[in-house]
Amino acid sequence: MPISVHDRTFHLRTSTCSYIFAALPSGYLTHLYFGAPLRDAHVAHLLDDTNRAFSPYLPSGIMTDTLPQEAPSYGTGDFREPLVEIAGVDGTTASEFAFIAHRITDGKPTLDGLPSFYVEDESEAQTLEIELQDPISGAVVVLLYTAFEELGAITRSVRVENRAQTPLHLRRVLSASVDFPTADLDWIHLSGAWSRERDVVRSALRSGTQSVESRRGASSHQQNPFFALCSPQTTETAGEAWGFNLVYSGNFYAGIEVDQYGTPRAQIGINPFDFGWELQPGATFQAPEAVMLYSGAGLGALSRGFHRLIRQRLCRGAWRDRVRPVLVNSWEASYFNIDEETIVHLGEAARDAGIELLVMDDGWFGYRDNDTTSLGDWTPHAKKFPNGLSSLANRLNTLGLTFGLWLEPEMVSPDSDLYRSHPDWCLHVPGRRRTEARQQLVLDLSRSDVCDYLIETLAGVLSGANIGYIKWDMNRHMTEIGSALLPANQQRETAHRTMLGLYRVLDELTKRFPDVLFESCSGGGGRFDLGLLPFMPQAWTSDNTDAIARLRIQEGTSLAYPAISMGSHVSDSPNHQLHRTTPIGTRGAVALAGAFGYELDLNKLSDSEKEAIKRQVAFAKEVREITQFGDFYRLKSVFPTERNSSNESAWMFVSRDQREAVVTWVQVLALPNAAQSLLHLAGLNPSLDYELILIDLDEQSKAPSQITPLVLGGDVLMNAGIRVANHRGDFRAKVWHLKAK
Ligand code: DGJ
Repeated sequence: MPISVHDRTFHLRTSTCSYIFAALPSGYLTHLYFGAPLRDAHVAHLLDDTNRAFSPYLPSGIMTDTLPQEAPSYGTGDFREPLVEIAGVDGTTASEFAFIAHRITDGKPTLDGLPSFYVEDESEAQTLEIELQDPISGAVVVLLYTAFEELGAITRSVRVENRAQTPLHLRRVLSASVDFPTADLDWIHLSGAWSRERDVVRSALRSGTQSVESRRGASSHQQNPFFALCSPQTTETAGEAWGFNLVYSGNFYAGIEVDQYGTPRAQIGINPFDFGWELQPGATFQAPEAVMLYSGAGLGALSRGFHRLIRQRLCRGAWRDRVRPVLVNSWEASYFNIDEETIVHLGEAARDAGIELLVMDDGWFGYRDNDTTSLGDWTPHAKKFPNGLSSLANRLNTLGLTFGLWLEPEMVSPDSDLYRSHPDWCLHVPGRRRTEARQQLVLDLSRSDVCDYLIETLAGVLSGANIGYIKWDMNRHMTEIGSALLPANQQRETAHRTMLGLYRVLDELTKRFPDVLFESCSGGGGRFDLGLLPFMPQAWTSDNTDAIARLRIQEGTSLAYPAISMGSHVSDSPNHQLHRTTPIGTRGAVALAGAFGYELDLNKLSDSEKEAIKRQVAFAKEVREITQFGDFYRLKSVFPTERNSSNESAWMFVSRDQREAVVTWVQVLALPNAAQSLLHLAGLNPSLDYELILIDLDEQSKAPSQITPLVLGGDVLMNAGIRVANHRGDFRAKVWHLKAK
């Protein structure tokens, strides 16, 4: 059993970690340990009871300002960042939460209104509920912990219950807070911007608070909720690492405060900035779920732990375990210049290439010929699609293709029938300008009438034609966050209520249309988070489709998210964002590492390019079980370090039975008279022999150097490695398919 209790000491034990805390006689919950699995919970000797000047103490002598805590609150002696901050009816925020009771149950409960990790069988996990109460305000804080025994994860969340007779005002309800014993750690986060999402940023912890957050109403391109702590010596393959993420798509806070004694407090949850929640007597507030993983074997193992967990117990529905169709998307092929004939013409080329799904992107509805109009009017553009979507879908189906459609449901154009009929359906503050971004406004999904309308309208679109895929886009952040229906004292609930509305809409639609594959998108990868993956098991990784830029974007994303969740397409050359020219084989190699597809006009390609694409599609299909469900290894990082010039990138996927693997290697720039590169493969069975098949994804076979002998032992491949010749020409790639003999 993963959870045990002795003398009010709680031990959550999984295959990869132990997490231990205790309820002290004072009622305070003290954190004791998070790390490699321990046989038992005898770690109380770690408690530091030194008497410190300038730290208040409790009658019991405990100093809450130095006590490692599970559920820190503010106002009675701990001056560090709290987990919760609640104002009582008198307006004061001092609170002290004391342990009341605990309950252990098999399995894992769902969270009210929020997506979360789940179990399929009660034996997979156990859940511990800890009830704490502040006797003065009547606030009850319930900490929920689930230990996934085999998958190694611990999830945490917080529920606040108002057991008083008067309302409570919640100012801050984070989801997890963990005190670490030493600040001799690095922290890693994923930061960026539109078209360069999720760069890996690693730095030593320093005194004070270091944090990333979003105030944009979306998890954002700029910062991702994922972060990790690790030892300074931790590498891809060795050392300790702790990873945190949040099952949420809105404003988040992820931070670490290193206090005066070098004790880091790591926290994650809804961003307290501009957040507030009125909790009436008898009501409860459920915070989103945080997930924590520990690895004693480097960052690679930490990532693989997250990948497995997300693929198996966060993503859900029919597409969770299905390989993803190879698609072509019309956006970079023709942007807004689409009509029935252009799409069918693209479909014919797609059929010839072996592609399975055609996604018609933006420009098909209302009178949308550019991005100034029509969001909200989800009826086919009369001039471009006079026969409607059904006719188009049928023609594509006849070609053997599934029909996919782009939507941007959370938005409305001021120039739309929807806005003209319901100007109060967008987020706004009466009397203030409605700030536009990309000429659009954000629908107020905190309103149930708006959500109901969306559900019915989109259900109408989905049932009006044979649609097998939806690209769910979202192209601006929230401003003037106000809702026409909420009273003044609840306006600060709007942003979170909007997320709850979005989850309700998605939940309903994915239940009504279980066979439709949904892919999320937000100007590319602006909402790549755990909150959307339960509904939409893949996300468009970035609007930047340049293969070389994608090396960073996809590697950064892979730290936290599985390859199968990354929409990854071969696009034009020169690339539309960077104008860089890259070989088609390199574009294919990079796109292989995800939900594979194309984003270009297949009809404009030369015969040899078409030939290359056919081979790429065939290979992507042949190995997608491995690239999408296998174990992922980063062999060479494209992020520069003191020792790494970042001129190469190498990724590897290994099938679960270790009998097959795919290796992709990309050289960024050609170097004069360079040394050969040494590549140590990973994840293979050392006792097996593997045939190395060099795969040609390029326009014409350039007789690249082979690795000889062509059959090598798994032990040789991993320990001695293989040599990869430096290539002439920039942006070159090699791909191998390994098969056990
Ligand atoms: C932003 C997306 O990221 C693009 O792929 C494309 O769908 C455009 N929106 C369409 O407006």
